[in-house]
Amino acid sequence: MVITVAQQKGGAGKTTLAANLAAALAPTARVALIDIDKQRSLAAWHRLRPAARPAIACQELSFWRLDAEIARLRAQVDCIFIDSPPQIETDARTAIRVADLVLVPLQPSPLDLWATEATLRLAAAERQPAALVLNRVPANARLTDTVRQSCAAAGHVLLPATVGNRAVMAQAFAQGLGAAEFAPKSPAAAEIAALVAAVRLAAGW
Ligand SMILES: Nc1ncnc2c1ncn2[C@@H]1O[C@H](COP(=O)(O)OP(=O)(O)O)[C@@H](O)[C@H]1O
Ligand SMILES: [Mg+2]
Repeated sequence: MVITVAQQKGGAGKTTLAANLAAALAPTARVALIDIDKQRSLAAWHRLRPAARPAIACQELSFWRLDAEIARLRAQVDCIFIDSPPQIETDARTAIRVADLVLVPLQPSPLDLWATEATLRLAAAERQPAALVLNRVPANARLTDTVRQSCAAAGHVLLPATVGNRAVMAQAFAQGLGAAEFAPKSPAAAEIAALVAAVRLAAGW
C-alpha cells in the first residue's frame, strides 16, 4: 500500500499523520517513509525515533527519484507513506501518481476545505483515489458538520475517523514517537487506531 499524504495548505497535519500512521502500523507491518518535502520534518521525526521502538525505514528523496524508489520498495515493505510538500507542483503530482491512495488532511474550516480542491483535482486528473481526513478537530465541533455536508455535496470521500486537537501529538512527535506509543491510553491513540483502520479500508489493504 502506497499512501501519499498531500494538501497544498501547510500546517494541515500531513507530516504528523504520516508519522502517526507509520508508528501505528510498525509493530505488525514493514513500513517505509519517504520524505519529499524540502523541510524534511518527517525525516527529522524519524531520526529522533528510539531504537527500541518498532523499526520504520525512512528516505529523503527528490521527487524525480520517486518512481524508481517506489518500484524497489514495493517488493520490500508492506506499506509506504510519502510526505509531500505544501504546494501543487511537480513534486506533489509525482507523489500522487505513484500512490494507491491520496490522503488529504484538513482542519474543519471552509478555508481548509477550499484549500483541498487543487489536491483533489490533481488526484482526479491522475485517476487516483483520494480521501479527506479531518485533523485538529476542536472539542466543540459544529464546523465539522458543516464540512461533512460540504464534502458530501461535492462528492468527496471523507473518512469517518477524525483526529482531535491533541497536545500529545506534538509531544510524541518531538520524541520520534506516534501518539499511541507516547500515551497509549490517550484519546489520540484511539483516534489514530481508528484512522489506521479507515485508511486501510479506503486503500483496500
Ligand atoms: N491532531 C493534532 N493535534 C494537535 N496538533 C497537531 C495535530 N496535527 C498536527 N498538529 C500540529 O500542527 C502543526 C502542523 O502539523 P504538520 O504535521 O507539520 O502539518 P503539515 O505537514 O501539513 O505542514 C504542528 O505543530 C503539529 O504538531
Ligand atoms: Mg509537513
